[in-house]
Amino acid sequence: MSHITASIQLVLLLTLSGILSLKTIQFGFCSADHSVGCIDIERKALLKLKQGLTDPSDRLSSWVGEDCCKWSSVGCNNITGHVNRLDLRNRYSDGLDYSGAIVSAFGFGGEINPSLLVLKDLVYLDLSMNNFGGVQLPSFIGSLEKLKYLDLSSASFGGIIPPNLGNLSGLLYLDLSNNIVEPIENDLRWLATLSSLKYLNLEGVNLAKTTSYWLPTVNMLPSLVELHLPFCGPSILPLTLPSINFTSLLVLDLSSNYFNSTIPPWLFNLTEREMLDLTDNSLTGKLPDSLGYLKSLRYLKLPDNSFQGSIPKSIGNLTSLEEFYLGWNQMSGIIPESLWELSSLVSLDVYGNTWQGAITEAHFAKLGGLRKVSIGNNSPNISLVFNISYDWIPPFKLRFLYIRSCQLGPKFPTWLRNQTELTTMVLRNAGISDTIPDLFWQLDLQLDNLDIANNHLSGRVPNSLRFSYSSTVDLTSNRFEGPLPLWSSNITWLHLRDNLFSGPIPHNIGQVMPNLTYLDISTNSLSGSIPMSFGNLSQLAFMFISNNHLSGEIPHFWNNIPLLFIVDMSDNSLSSTIPGSLGSLTLLMFLILSSNNFSGEVPSFKNCTYLNILDLGDNKFSGPILASIGESMPCLKILSLRSNSFTGSIPLTLCGLPTLHILDLSHYNLSENIPHCIGNIPANSGNLGWIETLDLSMSKLSGSIPQSMVSLTFLNHLNLSYNNMFGKIPTGNQFQTFVDSSIYETTPVLAGVHYQLVAKTMKKHLKFQVEMEKRMMTLNLKSYNSSSW
Ligand SMILES: *[C@@H]1O[C@H](CO)[C@@H](O)[C@H](O)[C@H]1NC(C)=O
Ligand SMILES: *[C@@H]1O[C@H](CO)[C@@H](O)[C@H](O)[C@H]1NC(C)=O
Ligand SMILES: *[C@@H]1O[C@H](CO)[C@@H](O)[C@H](O)[C@H]1NC(C)=O
Ligand SMILES: *[C@@H]1O[C@H](CO)[C@@H](O)[C@H](O)[C@H]1NC(C)=O
Ligand SMILES: *[C@@H]1O[C@H](CO)[C@@H](O)[C@H](O)[C@H]1NC(C)=O
Ligand SMILES: *[C@@H]1O[C@H](CO)[C@@H](O)[C@H](O)[C@H]1NC(C)=O
Ligand SMILES: *[C@@H]1O[C@H](CO)[C@@H](O)[C@H](O)[C@H]1NC(C)=O
Ligand SMILES: *[C@@H]1O[C@H](CO)[C@@H](O)[C@H](O)[C@H]1NC(C)=O
Ligand SMILES: *[C@@H]1O[C@H](CO)[C@@H](O)[C@H](O)[C@H]1NC(C)=O
Ligand SMILES: *[C@@H]1O[C@H](CO)[C@@H](O)[C@H](O)[C@H]1NC(C)=O
Ligand SMILES: *[C@@H]1O[C@H](CO)[C@@H](O)[C@H](O)[C@H]1NC(C)=O
Ligand SMILES: *[C@@H]1O[C@H](CO)[C@@H](O)[C@H](O)[C@H]1NC(C)=O
Repeated sequence: MSHITASIQLVLLLTLSGILSLKTIQFGFCSADHSVGCIDIERKALLKLKQGLTDPSDRLSSWVGEDCCKWSSVGCNNITGHVNRLDLRNRYSDGLDYSGAIVSAFGFGGEINPSLLVLKDLVYLDLSMNNFGGVQLPSFIGSLEKLKYLDLSSASFGGIIPPNLGNLSGLLYLDLSNNIVEPIENDLRWLATLSSLKYLNLEGVNLAKTTSYWLPTVNMLPSLVELHLPFCGPSILPLTLPSINFTSLLVLDLSSNYFNSTIPPWLFNLTEREMLDLTDNSLTGKLPDSLGYLKSLRYLKLPDNSFQGSIPKSIGNLTSLEEFYLGWNQMSGIIPESLWELSSLVSLDVYGNTWQGAITEAHFAKLGGLRKVSIGNNSPNISLVFNISYDWIPPFKLRFLYIRSCQLGPKFPTWLRNQTELTTMVLRNAGISDTIPDLFWQLDLQLDNLDIANNHLSGRVPNSLRFSYSSTVDLTSNRFEGPLPLWSSNITWLHLRDNLFSGPIPHNIGQVMPNLTYLDISTNSLSGSIPMSFGNLSQLAFMFISNNHLSGEIPHFWNNIPLLFIVDMSDNSLSSTIPGSLGSLTLLMFLILSSNNFSGEVPSFKNCTYLNILDLGDNKFSGPILASIGESMPCLKILSLRSNSFTGSIPLTLCGLPTLHILDLSHYNLSENIPHCIGNIPANSGNLGWIETLDLSMSKLSGSIPQSMVSLTFLNHLNLSYNNMFGKIPTGNQFQTFVDSSIYETTPVLAGVHYQLVAKTMKKHLKFQVEMEKRMMTLNLKSYNSSSW
């Protein structure tokens, strides 16, 4: 047998994502075919280790019998028989970012028994993706002196990082990422002794207290090839570094920290680097010309910072660049010609900046390998123009096309006819006034995101489009006409608002698209009744069908859609009573039923404890206002009951709504005084202390304005017009500002006093507020949903 030690071979492999991965360090041991057999004292140590661990899925069931070298996860040196490898990674989690369910079903927990120290020859130890429940990272690991590979990532270790890890001077690979450990204040210096280290990952380790020395410390590691310090919170990225020792560095990942300086010059001395990632910091200033020194760079990731100015011309020197991410900065100007010379580019994302000028087909001539393009911004203003001729055939085949607020039109871009591999197509606010040509429908794409909103696209939309799993379609604000299109069950987000779609909502919508989470068909010309098959939309959380010509009763399917949290059916001709089952939607946040012909009594919403907006205005509801509205809706911000046929008095419970901002009881036959509870207790304990808008106009109120209302210090808009009130206007706080004559609307006064305190019409204000909240909600969930790209 030849002389064989645990030789370690470093294999640098490019993973799919392009990130250099040293996880592929390969070790020459294996548990099979060894010639010596297990050493008894080590077998006993392993059994002790097993005893200490909780093992919910019995992963260590093979740890029985004499030959521990044959046990799963254990490797021995095939000459000496010593255990040299222990791989207890929870591989059920592989391929997943982090899944709590998988970790608790398959992960080890419990304690790491110090018997581990018996395994003196251990070179490889992997305890990652388990759940040790926040216990102190055991310091005795620092005594396993022969370790070369140590992976303790995502294992829920807590406490401090034991400085005696610095004793592991032979370590090549160290991953402590995604635990809840911290270095002791002012102590990371033990790292400096790990002079062989090639890979270091401290993602999520709180380095905030190491501001002054984290960089000098890692700079002492001459062998370091790959350094990951994202989400570490060191607030300062030092601008100077006397000399550069980590000259082997190929991958530098400093994303998601709080760096707010300009970009330090020393970064550009690491000319052999392959990847630079400064994503998600607050770096400012211009990108320097010295960027051009990074000639070997293949991945340059600078998105989510505050860089200004234009892209330096020297970008053209980065001839190996494959991925360039500069999205979400504050950059502007003309994209330099040199960028278009980067013929290795695969991904170009400069979205979220304000570029000017024109992009022509000549610019793309050398970019045959381009797969992903993202350009434009969220502003409604268009500053960048694509000047491309009708018959251009692009050299690339894109998968991901994201263009927003750039001028592509007025004609639909015909160059798409060759883009047969597209999976994401966003041409939003692109100034296109056209019908979509057949050549596009004929591409037979299978998209996961089709967004052509905010153009002037017209014509009918065929039902033949194909979509991949969990996709989004947004045709908002165009002039599409004809019946509502119905596509595959794979669609989860569907935005068809603000078009000219007409006819009934297809009766089988719920069967054809059962997985819809978001449905917005508002502001069209749809007629007929709400189909019963809505009851099949069991995943639906957002339902916007407002502003159409829908009529008839609301069907009783609400028990089948338990996840709904926004329902807007306003501005239709819906009639009859509201089904009581609507009150079973316990997640409901916004319920907007205004401007219909609903009648009868309002059902109980007392189970809807998350309600933020309840708008029942402009209907024909009758009976008393339910006291339960005030009792069980601690989150209610907007309540409108205006213009109905309610009877009885304002329930005092309304004063108990701690967060109410807008209350509209106008056009309401109250025939009584304003309840004196309004404004009577400190803001934080209710009595409408947060109210901003209060409209009690045309409600036949009598009596005087309670002086207590001056404590409504957030009040902006108060309307008490057309009532039978008398007495003096209270003075103090907000009431001073209402006396400003510019916001008076002088109408007949009672008892000689002006009571007209109107700023805007209530209706407008309410609509605006609802609209804003709706959009905000959409945005939040949307950005969550699309975080993958
Ligand atoms: C012993 O392990 C080495 C790797 O360290 C391997 O190359 C060799 O084939 C093994 N020998 C036997 C007999 O299994
Ligand atoms: C290991 O490190 C600790 C703390 O850094 C130190 O006190 C101890 O002497 C070291 N042990 C050995 C064997 O080097
Ligand atoms: C760089 O390395 C040299 C030799 O290893 C060492 O003397 C020097 O202190 C290091 N410089 C820094 C800034 O770490
Ligand atoms: C970076 O390179 C410049 C120019 O080659 C040199 O003047 C400077 O000293 C270098 N800085 C460091 C920190 O090595
Ligand atoms: C940068 O961050 C530091 C530390 O958080 C803070 O003290 C400083 O004011 C910030 N500077 C700027 C310009 O925002
Ligand atoms: C870019 O490359 C050109 C030509 O090779 C060279 O003259 C120039 O100095 C380089 N610029 C930078 C910033 O590296
Ligand atoms: C859009 O353009 C208008 C008019 O030029 C300007 O007032 C507005 O600030 C711009 N909006 C943005 C978001 O740039
Ligand atoms: C578009 O390109 C044509 C010819 O290539 C040129 O004449 C025209 O001025 C360009 N328009 C814009 C807006 O750049
Ligand atoms: C693009 O489409 C044109 C016409 O439809 C065709 O002649 C050409 O071969 C296509 N080119 C590529 C690269 O697919
Ligand atoms: C749904 O998506 C999956 C995977 O993306 C795809 O294989 C399937 O064909 C799609 N189904 C439909 C009806 O488009
Ligand atoms: C709907 O989504 C579920 C998962 O949420 C999936 O299992 C199912 O296949 C989907 N149904 C259809 C018809 O796409
Ligand atoms: C409200 O919840 C209670 C208790 O869970 C339940 O008995 C009642 O039926 C619910 N009311 C409605 C309208 O769903």
